[in-house]
Parts: sequence; structure tokens; C-alpha cells
Amino acid sequence: MTQKLLEIDNLEVHFTTRRGVVRAVRGVSLSVGKGETLGLVGESGSGKSVTSQAAMGLVHIPGEIVGGDIRWKGQSLLGPEGHPLSRRIRGREMAMIFQDAMTSLNPLFTCGQQITEVLRYHRKMNKAQAQARALELFELVGISAPLERLNQYPFEMSGGMRQRGMIAMALACEPELLIADEPTTALDVTIQAQILELLQDLQKRLDLSIIMITHDLGVVAGLCDRVAVMYGGQIVEEASADEIFSHPAHPYTMGLLRSTPRIDGKDDRMVSIAGSPPDLLQAQQGCAFASRCPSRKAECSRDVQLKEMASRQVACRFPFSGPWSRDFKERTDHIGTR
Ligand SMILES: Nc1ncnc2c1ncn2[C@@H]1O[C@H](COP(=O)(O)OP(=O)(O)O)[C@@H](O)[C@H]1O
Ligand SMILES: [Mg+2]
Repeated sequence: MTQKLLEIDNLEVHFTTRRGVVRAVRGVSLSVGKGETLGLVGESGSGKSVTSQAAMGLVHIPGEIVGGDIRWKGQSLLGPEGHPLSRRIRGREMAMIFQDAMTSLNPLFTCGQQITEVLRYHRKMNKAQAQARALELFELVGISAPLERLNQYPFEMSGGMRQRGMIAMALACEPELLIADEPTTALDVTIQAQILELLQDLQKRLDLSIIMITHDLGVVAGLCDRVAVMYGGQIVEEASADEIFSHPAHPYTMGLLRSTPRIDGKDDRMVSIAGSPPDLLQAQQGCAFASRCPSRKAECSRDVQLKEMASRQVACRFPFSGPWSRDFKERTDHIGTR
């Protein structure tokens, strides 16, 4: 069995706002093993970013972790009894990249200055060592003309190159886990594919574990071993990527798959999920997806838990167990082959 790196256990995160308490994460449990790639998907507002921020220690007032545990290699990172090195682990052993490289790179310094700073501070390298390593890292992430790029400011680089620069920065500390929060959402399709290819390549070469966060199921398809689907602050289905794409069981997962565009261009009818996500200010009664669910029944107003079902976990009283229609198969076939 692979070693568990990050384990999130029954996590609850609240934000206290003027309108009330936003229950953004409601009992989320997930784990990532060494070298494993986990996709975390769901519509905007489902709690994906807050979950990963909690793991990275980036939930600040008005947000608060009010329940559950977060462990790194078996040791809790939370509370006064948590790991004494939790700050060092976050940022060194796990690193995070974001949608917009512009906001995480400092506009006032060249990319080279920023990455050598990280190397000198965290890896205690001298200037010459840091410069040599920075060049290696820029080469590793496929930045063209890396020596010149090191002397450029973030605004002088294209979106795709900046994203590569941010990945290089995240890799500077040689993390074991990379959390990528919508890293390709702001990029056009071609560049997006290149960045995904890069992540896949790095994952193999460095035996990196990755949590790929995205609202787009197409993005996780070629990259992830397992996929967890979030809705309204909860995980509603978790299974191998193959199962999620070929035999989804939760009606929400099926809805997400149907609303993913086809890349073969055969038929671009996307069936979006009617209705809107739940209001996280409200306590949830019963299944959070029930009001939008095409197969809801009276029993769905009773609470539902994530349950083992064969090799997957599903939070649905009436999970779909097939047969999956031909139209559905055609619609989703291409996703796994991207
Ligand atoms: N700083 C904040 N203050 C209040 N609510 C917040 C804050 N950050 C996130 N939330 C709420 O938490 C919920 C989940 O957000 P998020 O994790 O960013 O969703 P996702 O990444 O899935 O799009 C949203 O309803 C959002 O409004
Ligand atoms: Mg987000």
C-alpha cells in the first residue's frame, strides 16, 4: 500500500460574515498517497479552494477550521498539539500553485530574483548555487530561453510561461505534494494542454503527488488516478478516474460530465445542470443536490452520508448503477482519452 502523505479527516471550515456563518466545507475527508494524483472537481463555490487552503494553513479570519483533522505523514498539522514543524511542511513538503500566476509572483522582481530568493532562504544555497538551480528548474518546466527569462519581470512573460515560472517556484523546495488550484483555467486551450502535459511529466519524473483542483472534468481526465467530486462543501462521489468517467453513480457527477464540452466537435450540445448550487449560509437538510436532481425522491429530504459502493464512495440514496446509455457513453468517451 502506498504511503499516505496528506490526510484530511472530516474537515469543517466556517466563515463568519455579516450575513451569517458560511459553512464552506462540511465534513470533507480525502487522502493522497505518495506519487498519486487526485482530482478535486465541482462547480464554482463548492469548497474546493477552501479545502486545499486549509491543508496549506491558509485559512485565516473570518475563516476558521472548526472541526476535523489534517495530517501529514500521520501527524496532525492542527492545533497546539499539532506538528511543531507544520509551517515548514507547508511550503516545503507541500506547495501550491494558483490560477493566476500574476497574483503569486511579485511584479517588482525578476523571476530569477524570486526563485533564487526561495532557494537561498529555504534550501540554504549560496548565490551561485541558487542561480544554477534556478536555471535547472526553468529548464525542467520547459521554459524556452531560460537564461533570458530569469532576467524578465513577470509581466514580460506570456500567461503560459508565467504559469511555468510559478510551477518552477513551487518545485524549488522539492515538495512531495503539489496542490494545483485551477492552474490552467485562465489559459487558452492549447497552452492549457501544454501545462497539463508538463504536470503529468513532472509527476512521473519526480514521483510527485498532485491534487488537481478544477471545475472542468476534462482537465482531470488524462492526469488523475482518482477523482473526488465536491458539491455544496461535501464530497458526493469518489472513485478511480476510469470509474468516474465511464460509470458515474452520483446524479451530480453525471450532470457535470454531461455539461463538459466534447472535444471531438461531433455534437456540442452541452446539457447544463438546471438550478443553482446550495446556499452555504443555510444548514443542510437532506441531500444538498436534491432540489436540482432529476432522480430525486421523497427520501432525499433525509440526510445522506458518503457510503462505500463496490470500489467507490457515493453520497446518494439512489445511485445510478447502469446501464449507462449509448449517448452518455459517446458523450464521455473522449474525456478519458484527452
Ligand atoms: N473569505 C471568505 N469569506 C466568506 N466566505 C468565503 C470566503 N472564502 C470562501 N468563502 C465561501 O466558501 C465557499 C467555497 O468557496 P471556494 O472553496 O472558493 O469554492 P471553489 O474553490 O469550489 O469555487 C463559497 O461559498 C465562498 O463564498
Ligand atoms: Mg476555487
